[in-house]
Amino acid sequence: MKIMIKSLLALAVVAGLNLLLSGCAYNVEEELYPTQNDCDTVAVSYSMQIVPILESVCYTCHTEDTGILIGGGNIFDSHAAILPYADSGTLVCVVEFAAGCSAMPPSGEQLSTCNLALINSWVNNGAPNN
Ligand code: HEC
Repeated sequence: MKIMIKSLLALAVVAGLNLLLSGCAYNVEEELYPTQNDCDTVAVSYSMQIVPILESVCYTCHTEDTGILIGGGNIFDSHAAILPYADSGTLVCVVEFAAGCSAMPPSGEQLSTCNLALINSWVNNGAPNN
């Protein structure tokens, strides 16, 4: 009888621990993979993060093919081509809709807060070709 009570107790403890642990695992997962507001602006990569933004919003008007016709002559579909815009502050100025700059994109639909933060961070890091 004593042995049975002991093993029942052990079972209960194991079950309790299991519940506790699975609860913790869930919390940790939530912390590790937040669904929103996940904007990592440390060591921003030109090829992995900046190009996709430009590609989806800006290249319509600013590539070799489109820049002359509808981009006001502004072409920046390569790192070498965008570097002067980054260095001069023009790139940040236009996407921030700052006073004294043409707001880009001209549609008036500003880039997301995260994409603006990524561009800012990349420019502040010296606009590396990484
Ligand atoms: C619908 C076409 C179009 C799209 C899309 C577009 N642009 Fe432009 N962009 C223009 C035109 C036209 C000009 C030249 C006239 C002007 O400066 O307003 C220009 C000018 C610029 C300039 C030069 C501004 C200056 O003062 O010399 C920069 C930099 C620029 N765009 C960046 C961007 C970026 C970054 C995006 C994407 C977030 C973008 N553009 C999206 C049409 C576009």
